Amino acid sequence: MSAELIPSILDLRHRLAEVRRAGRVIGFVPTMGALHAGHGSLIEMARQQTDCVVVSIFVNPTQFNQQKDYDLYPRPLAEDLEFCSARGVDIVFAPAVEEMYPRTQLVFVDVLRVTEHLCGKFRPGHFRGVTTVVLKLLNIVQPDRAYFGEKDAQQLAAIGRMVADLDLPVQIVAVPTVREADGLALSSRNRRLSPAERRIAPIVHRALQVAEEQIAAGATDPQQVKTKALATFHPFPQIRVEYLEIVDPLEMQPVERLDGPVRVAAAVWLGATRLIDNLLCRPATGQIERFT
Ligand code: PAF
Repeated sequence: MSAELIPSILDLRHRLAEVRRAGRVIGFVPTMGALHAGHGSLIEMARQQTDCVVVSIFVNPTQFNQQKDYDLYPRPLAEDLEFCSARGVDIVFAPAVEEMYPRTQLVFVDVLRVTEHLCGKFRPGHFRGVTTVVLKLLNIVQPDRAYFGEKDAQQLAAIGRMVADLDLPVQIVAVPTVREADGLALSSRNRRLSPAERRIAPIVHRALQVAEEQIAAGATDPQQVKTKALATFHPFPQIRVEYLEIVDPLEMQPVERLDGPVRVAAAVWLGATRLIDNLLCRPATGQIERFT
């Protein structure tokens, strides 16, 4: 069956009021479109856990800090609709910019601390745009559960904290990163890579694995781990590393010692494409036992 396309907030509210009256549990997958198997796994989990799956497709201008990046963002709406229909999505909410931002937006949500490092340092205003639009979308859809990928770990942490600190009545579900066979994390931006860049791109995952292996083997100094992981990029002058950091998984603060679970996260530029990835890493078992 085809997914129902609804571009208007009011129409969506009326439609979802019926769904709620029928006692159906609503699962929500917010996206910016250009859907791929990573989104497919969010949809699949929502399908398994809820009765009515809503996917939003909205390229949110307020989270782009470069106009060119916003302009170049792929918008294959017809393909995305087919993608959703084939996966049993019930409703696709695809509003225009004027529908979401009918007037100058004067209210924003800023999640402090969590958005301070990693991407927050290099993309000023990005997370404020993300958390604000996600709060708007959550208020519009009012889902029981909302699904986000672990690939955007800092986004996931910021949204989780927003929901907790603002007592929003929704359960946030984290869905594992989907990777190509060579390790490259799926992203809508991957389609911008040239064939030569695509061949190099899995090195980002490899660098994170180098860090993961050292942490699992008992390394305690994050600086040493970072230096070795960064060395993975040395044979690839085409890659410009924006950051490679080791942070605590909740507040995303750089750690001084490796004595608990951490996220190793990286952002790199490959030509004109920015790639991000991360791994949740745990120290050697003996160490966890010593510190807990
Ligand atoms: O992860 C994304 O695609 C976007 O940041 C989101 C959560 C849909 C908000 O625009």
